[in-house]
Amino acid sequence: MRLEARGLVRIFPDGTKALDGADLEIATPCFMVLSGPNGSGKTVLARHFVGLERPQAGSVLADGVPVERCLAETRRRVGFVFQEPEHQILGITAGEDVEFGIRRRVPDQEERRRRASRALEAVGLAGTEDRLASALSGGQKRRLAVASALASDPELVILDEPFNGLDPEGAAGLLRILLGLRERGVGILLVTHDLEKCLAHADRLAVLGSGRVAADGTPGELWDRLPALGLRRSPGGPDRLREMTWLD
Ligand SMILES: Nc1ncnc2c1ncn2[C@@H]1O[C@H](COP(=O)(O)OP(=O)(O)OP(=O)(O)O)[C@@H](O)[C@H]1O
Ligand SMILES: [Mg+2]
Repeated sequence: MRLEARGLVRIFPDGTKALDGADLEIATPCFMVLSGPNGSGKTVLARHFVGLERPQAGSVLADGVPVERCLAETRRRVGFVFQEPEHQILGITAGEDVEFGIRRRVPDQEERRRRASRALEAVGLAGTEDRLASALSGGQKRRLAVASALASDPELVILDEPFNGLDPEGAAGLLRILLGLRERGVGILLVTHDLEKCLAHADRLAVLGSGRVAADGTPGELWDRLPALGLRRSPGGPDRLREMTWLD
């Protein structure tokens, strides 16, 4: 599937201009990293892709159709992991939380339970089905958010700073999950500052600055410009790219 943001503008009531003509296109399959300094508009842009923000100017298209006209379908097709995992917990227990997202797609309760258990296991939360979601640790809540977003087999998944709060094993585990999805043709839009954890695997990097996409290309193409774009990278040439991963 293809998601396109065209000329997005978002000005908040206090006058903050979060997006100022942002253009970004993502089509499956892909592993795209979206980065940029704090406050550059990454979260606001990502939220537009699934209709959590309405365009004030410009448009967001899903396979050419304005997202507001195919909202339910887009949300079914696109998994979304919030920057603040607390904001997406909808179930009382961890198991219920994952099941909630697939309640329509998987009407059979037993099958739903099995799927939820598998999704929890995949993120390292095996056996937590009956634990209170609100009582999970920060990193466990993030893992739960990933499990819930992936349980519905999305065509494309958008993850907003998903490495935050994850321990090294959790971050590597998440990266492995994303690479597995990529292999199956799922699209990945990974919003992150942690380029050193993942950039080696990205086939595209977009960098936001002042509410616009300031750079968009392969990591190799953008390598020399990264410091000027406010991003950290290993010293040296683009051959150092392959070190920018948390996988051995
Ligand atoms: N609800 C809001 N009301 C007012 N301003 C907001 C609101 N949400 C975001 N902003 C502002 O919009 C700008 C972009 O915010 P956004 O959260 O998209 O940044 P970001 O690139 O995701 O930053 P970070 O790296 O810290 O996650 C910031 O200046 C932020 O303060
Ligand atoms: Mg953000």
